[in-house]
Amino acid sequence: MKRLLVLLIVAAFVCTAFVAVAQDKGPASIKMDKAKTGVVTFDHAKHQADVPDCKTCHHTGGFEKCDSCHGAKDDGKKIKYKSAMHNNCKGCHKSMKKGPTKCKECHVK
Ligand code: HEC
Ligand code: HEC
Ligand code: HEC
Ligand code: HEC
Repeated sequence: MKRLLVLLIVAAFVCTAFVAVAQDKGPASIKMDKAKTGVVTFDHAKHQADVPDCKTCHHTGGFEKCDSCHGAKDDGKKIKYKSAMHNNCKGCHKSMKKGPTKCKECHVK
């Protein structure tokens, strides 16, 4: 009986931890303003609904910013930031035939 109680407490603890982790979905909307071509407003929440597997974009399994690994230039192992973003965003839109592929549909001045 005591064992069962301990087990239940442990199970409850694990569940709570899981919910806490699952809730960090990041910002619902992300403004990206690095490009002179214009600001990109990325609807993160909507994409999370359309693309349920986080790893499709956060392909390393972590949630660091893309530019923490993808720098200003290709380094032989990792493509540069601009290509990482364009290949990811436009790549998916092209292959799904959904979502914008033209500059001004993403970059707004
Ligand atoms: C599907 C959306 C999308 C399309 C279409 C798109 N871009 Fe981008 N682009 C992005 C995103 C997102 C970034 C990252 C922006 C940031 O971090 O501020 C980016 C980054 C850039 C950057 C580099 C910013 C930097 O300093 O690293 C340039 C320049 C750029 N885009 C130009 C263009 C041009 C020109 C076109 C059309 C040929 C285009 N983009 C089409 C989404 C898009
Ligand atoms: C369609 C692509 C895409 C999907 C799917 C996606 N994300 Fe993101 N997420 C991004 C981009 C792009 C950023 C901005 C990264 C940056 O600023 O360099 C981001 C940012 C984040 C951040 C903030 C990171 C920071 O330090 O600013 C968190 C946390 C996050 N995402 C969690 C998630 C989780 C959890 C899921 C799955 C439920 C998910 N994302 C699904 C593209 C996506
Ligand atoms: C921890 C480091 C790291 C982070 C953070 C990271 N990348 Fe990458 N990325 C890599 C490495 C290493 C490669 C090359 C090897 C590979 O394909 O996994 C790569 C390759 C890519 C590629 C080309 C190959 C492919 O699989 O399509 C794209 C596109 C890409 N990353 C986009 C992104 C985007 C978008 C983000 C942010 C949401 C991001 N990366 C965050 C390290 C990282
Ligand atoms: C794995 C697939 C996938 C990736 C990666 C992806 N998108 Fe999308 N995106 C979609 C789909 C699907 C739609 C169409 C949603 C609809 O029509 O309901 C869309 C629509 C959009 C739209 C149209 C307006 C809106 O929010 O619905 C914008 C802008 C956009 N995406 C920007 C981006 C940017 C910027 C990135 C990269 C940071 C990105 N997307 C990465 C699948 C993706």
